Amino acid sequence: MKKHLIAPSVLAADFSNLQRDIEMINESDADWFHIDIMDGVFVPNISFGMPVLRDIKKHAKKTLDVHLMIVNPDQYIETFASLGADILTVHYEACTHMHRTIQAIKATGMKAGIALNPHSSVNQLRDIIKDIDLVCLMSVNPGFGGQSFIENTYNKVKELKELIQSTGSVCQIEIDGGVTNKNAKKLVEAGANILVAGSYVFKSDNPTETISKLIKLDF
Ligand code: DX5
Ligand code: ZN
Repeated sequence: MKKHLIAPSVLAADFSNLQRDIEMINESDADWFHIDIMDGVFVPNISFGMPVLRDIKKHAKKTLDVHLMIVNPDQYIETFASLGADILTVHYEACTHMHRTIQAIKATGMKAGIALNPHSSVNQLRDIIKDIDLVCLMSVNPGFGGQSFIENTYNKVKELKELIQSTGSVCQIEIDGGVTNKNAKKLVEAGANILVAGSYVFKSDNPTETISKLIKLDF
């Protein structure tokens, strides 16, 4: 089985000990930092914004995978690039001119991703799939950590994998929401390349060990 990546979601960290939790991820087997930016408009919750990301960047030693759950993401592409985001993912449901948005992200040197809400069909990506680096399949409705995994995600991973293969795209498949020991292996077997995990990592007794288990799929 091809190696998959683990991206702990900082949303589930202890913000009063943020540096400690960032160092934990630095020292762990995790591959990326997953950073959730919510505006209270696109999703019914507000997470954190630029000043927090700037401070995360000061300590984080791995790829910054930034997931924008905001309306009008085009307005902030340059800002996120200058804050040090390596990957910028915008929502399919938030972008009217997605092709333009993707080109603008790539023009800054960042990798470009599209996130799909649980109700949005993979087929809608057919004409943009070769232009993007990543699809983030939401396996919960975005806005909150700690929700239950939506089982239909397995079908979407398979459909997306077929779309990627049939078009010759090199895009990667990321799963975001409710990832645990109950679904990680099945997701990777279905074709997922990156697993985001928030609560499952940070609420566990030993987050470093939980990350290693998610890498080894050994539960
Ligand atoms: C949900 C966010 C997720 C969230 C995942 O809107 O996009 O990245 O942090 O958290 P868990 O793993 O707890 O579902
Ligand atoms: Zn996310």
